[in-house]
Amino acid sequence: MIVLGINAFGQNPSAALVIDGKLRAFSHEERFNRLKSSHSLFPAQSLAWCLGSQNIKLEEVDKIAINWDCRKYPYRILSNMARAAARKLFQNQPRNSGQGDGMGGVINYINQYRPANYQSMIYAGLRESGFKGRLPELVYVNHHLSHAYQAYYQSGYQDALVLVADGHGEEACVSGYKVYKGEFTKILEYPVPYSLGWFYGGFTAYLGFHANRDEGKLMGLAAYGEESKDANPWLGHLDKILKVDKHEFELNPYFFKLGGNYHHPRFTDKLVKYITEIDPELVPIVLDERAQHHGKNINRYLLPKYMALAYAVQTRLEEALQAIVRRMTHETGLNKLCLAGGVFMNCKANYSISEMQEVKELFIHPAASDDGSALGAAYYVSRQLGDDPGDPLLHVQHGASYSLDTIRKALEISGIEYREMRDPAIETARLLAQGKFVGWFHGGAEMGARALGGRSIIACPNKEQVKDEINAKVKFRESWRPYCPSMTAEHADQFLVHAVNSPFMICADKAKPLLEEQAPATVHVDQTVRPQIVAESVLPLWHRLITETGKLTGVPVLLNTSFNVRGEPIVNSPFDAIRTFYSTGLDALVLEDFLVLKRGLKS
Ligand SMILES: [Fe+2]
Repeated sequence: MIVLGINAFGQNPSAALVIDGKLRAFSHEERFNRLKSSHSLFPAQSLAWCLGSQNIKLEEVDKIAINWDCRKYPYRILSNMARAAARKLFQNQPRNSGQGDGMGGVINYINQYRPANYQSMIYAGLRESGFKGRLPELVYVNHHLSHAYQAYYQSGYQDALVLVADGHGEEACVSGYKVYKGEFTKILEYPVPYSLGWFYGGFTAYLGFHANRDEGKLMGLAAYGEESKDANPWLGHLDKILKVDKHEFELNPYFFKLGGNYHHPRFTDKLVKYITEIDPELVPIVLDERAQHHGKNINRYLLPKYMALAYAVQTRLEEALQAIVRRMTHETGLNKLCLAGGVFMNCKANYSISEMQEVKELFIHPAASDDGSALGAAYYVSRQLGDDPGDPLLHVQHGASYSLDTIRKALEISGIEYREMRDPAIETARLLAQGKFVGWFHGGAEMGARALGGRSIIACPNKEQVKDEINAKVKFRESWRPYCPSMTAEHADQFLVHAVNSPFMICADKAKPLLEEQAPATVHVDQTVRPQIVAESVLPLWHRLITETGKLTGVPVLLNTSFNVRGEPIVNSPFDAIRTFYSTGLDALVLEDFLVLKRGLKS
């Protein structure tokens, strides 16, 4: 059967094509339309590409799977929000001052997701994209089940636990499932509005970052609070907001929803009041706000007291997740765990789960946010139609790829000098060993937020200042943010404390002293790293490139970051790569077998 999974009109629209239960194509809309995150758009180009890549017409598709159950959504979320609001009245909590009541966004969602509205929007999107003829029937799939299916069916596990945590689904913010003999049983739920995603997103906004996009910056910033953790007052103060015991957490949602939100829609005035009563200087930060510190003009969020808050928020999230994982493992006796939902884009929190003795095996879906739930919805419908869904995920390069002819044409049209390499791994390794920064374009574009050898910017990480140079000349991003290493499976043990199977840069690890010494540009301030461990059998050319570089430099590790600049999606096509190459300080561009060098450079 042919099922097209769609994540439309929300976070990071995407499409996934599943044929006879197996993933055949996946793409994010942003990669084609070049609009970062493409929030609230229809995934027109990505679904057209998915179909085209397999020579399938839309009318041949048996069903379109939608990662939201629109039939339930408006009613369940309303009743849950009303219940929470009633509890607030019952508890006689004071109403917050300020503009709005935090419900505006919810009402908008409800309107948008009415089934009749939603089907019209999908069909209109398909017609506008030029699809004629029969339009396949839509099947609405519960949002958290979509996440659960994406994680479970790509894990390769048999009996396992699945934990889903995100902003919210139709009725739940956290869902836990037991999968036994292929049957899913829900064993845990935190309903709307008790959302760990809203908790973390609220603080992301409080610290002056974009919620739903920059949560990784809050996580990176938190590491700077590690050093002073013993004197961090916020670890205690956060109890009023998110309290954790051994097996559960208790979140007070009025700090994020259901109250006046004068400063930002992602948190209420109650949160501002609570924090500033403890420390009047710890006001919400507006985007790009600066501050003076020891005579320097810095981003306001880099003031130590904000870093301490970030550290406490990150730590509390980790504790909350650990508590519910502990509960699930204790109640079921199962010790294999699959994770999906936007909260699990937090690789540091994932690391804290991976360290739990209750968890023996862990699979975290690399497209853990709503993008990947398009695939989970498609798996769900495939199973309904009688297929045996699922395929263990070995690599993420399920997106657009381009033939040598297409790439040659792009280079000719651009009128730039290039040459064909006899051995891209050897020649690229030579450039890296000379300290050059290389744009690397090979095979399919990646599913998920990380570049893992398909669309990567790479460098030799043997000097600390490489990080600063790439930040300043290539990525144009904040100087304090860390970069990540790609290393071969054979050498991972030497460099990492845990070195568990970690092919997707979705789970952190601790650096061993050798990595700090030999690849300092890939180790964060708290000695964490977010590695990609590369198996030769899965990504042979990528593996060989790392190996050949290691032969020349003595360090079989690459600094690997996504091939894009700050604020732009990862490059998708050869033209995207050429544009980015010439607008940054990259030295060389490898497009499959072709090499382009900046003027004056010789290989
Ligand atoms: Fe989600």
